[in-house]
Amino acid sequence: MAGKIAKHFIDDLLARANIVEVVERAVQLKKAGRDFQGLCPFHNEKTPSFTVSPEKQFYHCFGCGAHGSAIGFLMNHDGLGFVEAVEDLAGLLGLEVQYEESSGPATPAADYSALYQVMDEAQQLYARLLREHPARQRAVDYLKGRGLTGEVAKRFGIGYAPPGWDALVSTLGAEPGRRKLLIEAGLAVEKDNDRFYDRFRDRIMFPIRDRRGRCIAFGGRIIDEGEPKYLNSPETPIFHKRQELYGLDQVLKRGKRPERVLIVEGYMDVVALGQFGVDNAVATLGTATTGEQLEQLYRHVSEIVFCFDGDAAGRRAAWRALETVLPLLKEGRRAGFLFLPQGHDPDSLVRAEGAAVFNAKERITALSTFLFDDLSAKADLSSIDGRAQLVALARPLITKVPPGPLRQLLGQHLEKLAGTTIRGTDEPAPPVRKPPPQPVRPHAPGRYVPSLLTRAIAMLVRQPSLAPLARDLPALDVATNPESALLVTLLERLEGNPDLSSGALLESFRDGPQASLLTDILAQPLLLDESHWEAEFTGAIEQMLKRSRRGEITRRVMNRLPPGPGPDRQPDDDDG
Ligand code: GTP
Ligand code: MN
Repeated sequence: MAGKIAKHFIDDLLARANIVEVVERAVQLKKAGRDFQGLCPFHNEKTPSFTVSPEKQFYHCFGCGAHGSAIGFLMNHDGLGFVEAVEDLAGLLGLEVQYEESSGPATPAADYSALYQVMDEAQQLYARLLREHPARQRAVDYLKGRGLTGEVAKRFGIGYAPPGWDALVSTLGAEPGRRKLLIEAGLAVEKDNDRFYDRFRDRIMFPIRDRRGRCIAFGGRIIDEGEPKYLNSPETPIFHKRQELYGLDQVLKRGKRPERVLIVEGYMDVVALGQFGVDNAVATLGTATTGEQLEQLYRHVSEIVFCFDGDAAGRRAAWRALETVLPLLKEGRRAGFLFLPQGHDPDSLVRAEGAAVFNAKERITALSTFLFDDLSAKADLSSIDGRAQLVALARPLITKVPPGPLRQLLGQHLEKLAGTTIRGTDEPAPPVRKPPPQPVRPHAPGRYVPSLLTRAIAMLVRQPSLAPLARDLPALDVATNPESALLVTLLERLEGNPDLSSGALLESFRDGPQASLLTDILAQPLLLDESHWEAEFTGAIEQMLKRSRRGEITRRVMNRLPPGPGPDRQPDDDDG
């Protein structure tokens, strides 16, 4: 297991990320001056009070007080955990998440770069052999016979593993030290002692890439007929077939996220669809679709459509997919089915009828329709016993759906079909998203005027470049005043890192002891226009200085202050 995500990586990530792109996947934004505005996704509103600032890498809603960084948005809006949100954002940017060096006996985060490297070399080698190997013609003829263009073969990196035993081993494994790596990568097999040979021989090679486009495995198809038709890479440290989807990298590479993703069964289906411009298809790797794969997809799109044959086997497979997807159908996610005419798979259908079939919304059977049609066919709804049977079959399925509108509607529909009320399917939906932060607690009277400090904090977080104006501020009493402690922490953080954006600065407090105070403060609207912040901030600091001189703030030597006789021991009481 990898350790904690490295702090510096989060700063780096937020320095490179564009929060506008992240938010835009979920909220329609319009440019408004230097910022972007839209309808707040965290509360109901008709006029936009939700603002996203690319400069500050920060979003804020003036209506409900929701705010945060790009990471915070993914957590609060998409319901991701912190690590997932960081991984998601890193994935969007093509960055490798960096973890802290574990100090202790725990194993350090594994370094798979050599594996990725050798897989990339293998992919290039196979592609070259499809162009150059003396035996290439059979493979080329086969691909042509299947109707593939050179262009699409190139886009998917299709290659050729020639016959013989060592085309790959002799090229990539010339140094003895690399042979172990070829084995670990699943590219070579060791026989007896120390005899290595290629795993893939005389096969058409489909590189399987992760969502960031790195080659992590291969599917090798036999040319013409034979067994096994496909030989896939074994599980390796970088390849877990239940988590990966063939073609996902191509879908994510499109300029705009597709409205929905189609899940098909075969590599050839994805490639053929791609050739006809249907570039939102992915395939599982020879297994039934897993929940992990679906979770992964729902991070990028709100609708998943399963493509199956219309025959009995296809409907059985669809049923299995339905059971897998039901527990994942949180509010905002949809699933449906595209049943193909008898005797067709997506490859043959797109060649026969073109892309329209796969782009037409009307062809999609909604999950609810499939569910009730199939169950109603099994039960005789004209009899009481049949209706009871329907309820018995449907209820356990409906209760798999997380509480929310879909579950409620499925429950209501079942009641209608059964002609009776049914308990257990209609739990009211809990709020799906975090409720907006509560307003700041009124501060106890008599405490050091908090508004001065909280306003300074609110401005500083939103405009970190104000920090140098507070250089002269002596350390405040941390023991009795959480606000001043927070201000000191902020200033310290910015001293080492003057270029942090608001989002990154805020992120550095996550899960720390001061996070909730900071959240409370930021949830309050700052009524003052940004052009006045500098003056206001300077004013606030001066006020604090005055008070501190009057002894209203106990001064403390903090590590920010130089050692030696500091102002804490020499109160220069010149202020009256
Ligand atoms: P074509 O038959 O060339 O059209 O390929 P296809 O990709 O359409 O394959 P098919 O629909 O027959 O099978 C769907 C998927 O199941 C394939 O893409 C493979 O991932 C997997 N698969 C099929 N045959 C085998 C096999 O013999 N072994 C393994 N491990 N996987 C297979
Ligand atoms: Mn096929």
